[in-house]
Amino acid sequence: MNRINIAIDGPAGAGKSTVARALAERLNILYLDTGAMYRALGLKALSLGVDPNDRAGVEAFLPATEVTVGYENGAQRTFLDGKDVSAAIREHPVSKAASDISKHPAVRMKMVELQRQIAAARDVVLDGRDIGSFVLPDAPFKFYLDARPEVRARRRYDELTAKGQTCDLAALQRDIEERDRNDKGRDFAPLKQAADAVRVDTSDLSAEEVTQKLLEAVRGRKA
Ligand code: DC
Repeated sequence: MNRINIAIDGPAGAGKSTVARALAERLNILYLDTGAMYRALGLKALSLGVDPNDRAGVEAFLPATEVTVGYENGAQRTFLDGKDVSAAIREHPVSKAASDISKHPAVRMKMVELQRQIAAARDVVLDGRDIGSFVLPDAPFKFYLDARPEVRARRRYDELTAKGQTCDLAALQRDIEERDRNDKGRDFAPLKQAADAVRVDTSDLSAEEVTQKLLEAVRGRKA
């Protein structure tokens, strides 16, 4: 059976999650936010007082740690050791912790295994950093979304302030650029565009315009 697996990769704030969610809804398939899984592990490190960069410290709690996802009215819920952490993982400090913890190969392989299981069982749109390049190298549809750093910082700013979190735009841009360097620079399965991915610069496009572009590409190739 040919699964519809759609990989959407790119840096923070490129619009991946909004577009992936919309695309999944239009195609009536599942949306898997893989960043949420690394965020859950980052949250665990923070709550245990373990530095997410400390490989031995992270590998010590990893085997007894369970990250799972479920769906409620079509929306993903992320669970850490059985507890719903969907809201807690969106707090700003968790972003950097997720980026730091995701460089450890043992962390990635544990999450990648889960992602591959889900993609093998269901038609799904996955967003992340290494989906097209590492998790699902044979995915039939691969996209790489990018945008100028100032646009990405502004989007994050709007997102966080809408949730009532206070933040500083310039600091957010610095954080985003630091996270880009971190995610692109790690040795194992870094953020990169797969050779056969379609690149879309979303800087000057609305989420709806990007969704349409991807939808056309998917429908065009399926027809
Ligand atoms: O997509 P996000 O901002 O929620 O992801 C948080 C961090 O998790 C990101 O900075 C790097 C890591 N991540 C990853 O390494 N691989 C993925 N497939 C998804 C996220």
